[in-house]
Amino acid sequence: MTIPYPTTPSVPAFTEVAVPSGAPRPRLAFLGTGYLGATYAVCFAELGYDVLAVDVDAAKIAKLASGQVPFHEPGLDELLRSNLAAGRLRFTTSYEEAAEHADVHFICVGTPQRADGMGADLAYVEASVTALAPHLRRRALIVGKSTVPVGTAEWVEQLVARHADPQLGIEVAWSPEFLQEGFAVEDVLRPNRIVVGVKSEWANGMLYAAHKGVFDLAATEEREVPLVVTDFATAELVKVAANAFLATKISFINAMAEVCEVAGGDVTQLAKAIGYDPRIGNRFLQAGVGFGGGCLPKDIRAFQARAQELGAGEALRFLHEVDLINLRRRSRVVQLAAELLGRRPGPAGPDLSGTRIAVLGAAFKPNSDDVRDAPALAVAASLAKAGADVHVYDPQGMENARAAQPTLAYETSMNDAVAGAELVCVLTEWAEFRNANPAELADLVAGKRVIDGKNCLDAGLWARAGWDYRGMGRPAPAL
Ligand code: UGA
Repeated sequence: MTIPYPTTPSVPAFTEVAVPSGAPRPRLAFLGTGYLGATYAVCFAELGYDVLAVDVDAAKIAKLASGQVPFHEPGLDELLRSNLAAGRLRFTTSYEEAAEHADVHFICVGTPQRADGMGADLAYVEASVTALAPHLRRRALIVGKSTVPVGTAEWVEQLVARHADPQLGIEVAWSPEFLQEGFAVEDVLRPNRIVVGVKSEWANGMLYAAHKGVFDLAATEEREVPLVVTDFATAELVKVAANAFLATKISFINAMAEVCEVAGGDVTQLAKAIGYDPRIGNRFLQAGVGFGGGCLPKDIRAFQARAQELGAGEALRFLHEVDLINLRRRSRVVQLAAELLGRRPGPAGPDLSGTRIAVLGAAFKPNSDDVRDAPALAVAASLAKAGADVHVYDPQGMENARAAQPTLAYETSMNDAVAGAELVCVLTEWAEFRNANPAELADLVAGKRVIDGKNCLDAGLWARAGWDYRGMGRPAPAL
């Protein structure tokens, strides 16, 4: 099986290049050990590369070096431990050591939303590049993986020119990542595409060598990994365009949910029906409390901010609407809660004081402990703000949730959370909640009312067990 290697006319075709360290395959460094950097470091060690991962957070590095992943990601712990044992993976806080080690340095640091606006904060990108560059002593390639505003790669080039020895010929490239939390290991080992933005044949060749393990694995499994070689701007834009598209798809179906709610339709049926059209497809069409996490929400905002700066703000104005639709879904849960509990909406929203509500879910999606911009936790906080006594349970996200929303009550099990509740809100579609037995839970609660914020429960089953069920964008089920 041949691996397709399309190139754009402006970029030279792949040629084999000498690895600066003299190693048989490039030695790799991953700068930043958050979800992205830690997962990539572990997975590329698994693919056989000699990997060093760097972070300024000594506690995190110590944890990783001792074989513990600091976040919940299925399958990553085992790979971390086996690759540490195999000696292919090391962790450090020293950029000097990274400079000495690697031929290819991947920037994997966070690019959060700026505190003072919608744009991306590039402080960590700047810090990692300026910490590394002065220590470089031989030729190397610095590859951006973090999600950034278009134009960042050029800026990183300028930083490198200022902080590294110009005689060394250090180059920059951009290669966005597309991993999804919960499936991160699979997404890195078996990506559905690799995108590289390069300016030279050397950078192209080095990046190919740095990904050869991915292509080789695909070849043994008779799969193909499409590779798109392009310029810096396109590579940077591919990432934000992909996330903007996914966010738009989710908000589209949530907008349909809003219409279904007033028209008496069922958005789950509607999604199924339109999804059969292969041009539309049925993935990312699940209506519910909307999207959250450390990527989609901040990426659509940063994309708008950057487009505005470039004079193309109008082109992305729809993303503002995508954001608003998304946030309206969170308010909808509070509104539904008030309706179910017989509370009238006041001028400052409904008054839920004196009610006890169980919130099942805190993480932004199942199989993750990430609560960044999590709809579940945001709704829990809004319910509490409206006066409800809110009891939260999440199978993995408790520690992060408690740190983010310390005033909510946290329970150690689903049963403890629902005990005595007048309303149960399922806001993250963990299997534990999807498979819960409504008849058993009915014995624990004070009122059999449930809001299915992810449309993940069997509505008929819950209704037959005596529950007053409300989904998102669907009518109450007929018994
Ligand atoms: C997202 C993208 O899917 C990845 O391709 C990308 O690499 C990543 O961001 C990133 O930029 O690093 P992730 O944030 O892990 O990945 O989460 P998603 O699986 O995209 O889910 C995002 C949110 O949308 C979740 O809150 C999820 O519950 C929600 N969602 C998803 C829906 O509400 N409906 C759907 O149909 C699908």
